[in-house]
Amino acid sequence: MLGRAIREQPRIFAVAVAGSVLFGSMVIASAYVVGGVVGKVVVPAIERGSVTRGALALAAAALFGISVLRVVGIFGRRLGAGYMQYRLQAAYRRRVTRRYLDLPLAWHHRNATGTLLSNANSDVEAAWYPIAPLPFAVGTLVMLVGAVVSLFLTDWALALVGLAVFPALFALNVVYSRRMAPRQARAQRLRAEVSGIAHESFDGALVVKTMGREAQETARFAGRAGELRDALIAVGRLRGVFDPMLETLPSLGTLAVLVVGAIRLNQGAIDVTELVSVAFLFTVLAFPVRAIGWVLAELPRSVAGWDRVRRVLDATGDMPYGTTVLDPAAPAPATLAFHDVHFGYEPAEAHLPGTQVLGEVSFTVPAGRTVALVGPTGSGKSTIASLAVRLVDPHTGTVTLDGVDLRELTAASLAGTVALVAQVPFVFDDTVRANITLDRAGIGDEEVWAALRLAEADGFVAALPDGLDTMVGERGTSLSGGQRQRLTLARALAGRPRLLVLDDATSAVDPRVEAAILAGLRAPADGGAPASILVVAYRRATIALADEVIYVEQGRVLARGTHAELLATVPGYADLVTAYEQAEQEREQNRTYDEVTPLTSGLEIEVDR
Ligand SMILES: Nc1ncnc2c1ncn2[C@@H]1O[C@H](COP(=O)(O)OP(=O)(O)O)[C@@H](O)[C@H]1O
Ligand SMILES: [Mg+2]
Repeated sequence: MLGRAIREQPRIFAVAVAGSVLFGSMVIASAYVVGGVVGKVVVPAIERGSVTRGALALAAAALFGISVLRVVGIFGRRLGAGYMQYRLQAAYRRRVTRRYLDLPLAWHHRNATGTLLSNANSDVEAAWYPIAPLPFAVGTLVMLVGAVVSLFLTDWALALVGLAVFPALFALNVVYSRRMAPRQARAQRLRAEVSGIAHESFDGALVVKTMGREAQETARFAGRAGELRDALIAVGRLRGVFDPMLETLPSLGTLAVLVVGAIRLNQGAIDVTELVSVAFLFTVLAFPVRAIGWVLAELPRSVAGWDRVRRVLDATGDMPYGTTVLDPAAPAPATLAFHDVHFGYEPAEAHLPGTQVLGEVSFTVPAGRTVALVGPTGSGKSTIASLAVRLVDPHTGTVTLDGVDLRELTAASLAGTVALVAQVPFVFDDTVRANITLDRAGIGDEEVWAALRLAEADGFVAALPDGLDTMVGERGTSLSGGQRQRLTLARALAGRPRLLVLDDATSAVDPRVEAAILAGLRAPADGGAPASILVVAYRRATIALADEVIYVEQGRVLARGTHAELLATVPGYADLVTAYEQAEQEREQNRTYDEVTPLTSGLEIEVDR
């Protein structure tokens, strides 16, 4: 990991290490200068009671010069380390979020949103955390080698003290980080879980509040937050044990130097200058050596974070795009065909069996035609819609557009040809205009209004305080469910798709408006070519507009034909449509549709399914 960091930012790393080595050299130099000043200036001054001006000035200049160089070293190291750390974090945040968008829906189904957030945030941060002290640690290693060499040059007995203390310090750091590893990994995992629970309970705030589950949700969160607290306290406790030991060891070294040094001084093997230099060296070494400990202590957490980041970066299940481009010069409607498609969702956990959701599904949406997909809940209608726009790939069989397998199309060709309007509308926290254009080329205000008209949304948008510039709030909170649905429909229409897939996309819209929308899509007022439409529908008025109805039950196509044919020949179909109609009528009675103002005013009551 550290190798990867250095490979990615070699120049900045070099600057930081150079700064750190300069600092380390100056630490050693300062010890000898202080020793020199004591031996050559202070001791003579005490013995003779006077000191020469020249010696004093020289000592001051030497100390000042070393301090300046130290400052330069610290500056280079800190700046380099900061640049390196934050650049790596930003780069990997970008890579992780990009990867999220590349990974298929199946992968997203298996991974909680909270986990994704913590992968991109705290895991990336943790992964590159040791980069901050890394140049310091590398510089310190160089400094330790320099210190041992200079000790040997001074006196072998004092060097032996160094050889005992430095490896002991190093070993203590290694033991420390070994012990720390599992604790840090646990804390990191709990961080992700806590953010996962928090995300889920905010996301489901409506359910939590209306079902009166505040206390239980809080307890669920508190439980995991408590575990995180205990894990972090365990980390702190270990730190509390080892930190003082790491502080004390160099002090013991200084003590040993003074004892051994005093003996050597008496023997005449060294002089005062040398003794003071070495004793001072041990004192000033203590702090930089800690940098090695910082790196080692952060490594476990970093590795845990990196493992989680790498799981995202290395995740498989890409749905590679092909190279075929459908002729964009022909804005004619496209023909969609399913050929003997089988599909099943992957199990939530690898050891569980997956379930077959669709089998032997074959049907065609001829160019310019509207096909309604009707079936009970859970029969596989949304799955068929996902396959039609290649959110998922079939296990066997093919889905083709104008005879070309969807897997062979380029991303741009696919996105430019088909559009899915899903059951649950998603609106970005932006203006109405931005939500419809999504920055796609060639969609000006005129096209936006045309799309809004087709989606029967021009009325309410015109009535909004700032029109197209109105901010819709996070997830479109300032809009009703039906308004949101029509906005997402307009978004799909603005791209002039050649195949439009509507998955119960107008369920929250007044039934009459829904029929009006579909009628408008089939025969655009501007005389343009209609798109081919695959529509998941419940309401009789909507279904009746379709050229053909495909009736699915338990993932199989049970019958196909016109609405009238199916009503007459398929008992299950008739039952279903009648049941939906009754439910709709009951709703109509309960909601006072009488008070509905003209449909285009934007004030109509929304039916919430
Ligand atoms: N992401 C998923 N993971 C596993 N099973 C799923 C998933 N989505 C849907 N299913 C299952 O697939 C079947 C068909 O679902 P769906 O296509 O949503 O039906 P419909 O839209 O007709 O109500 C259901 O049994 C449902 O439980
Ligand atoms: Mg569905």
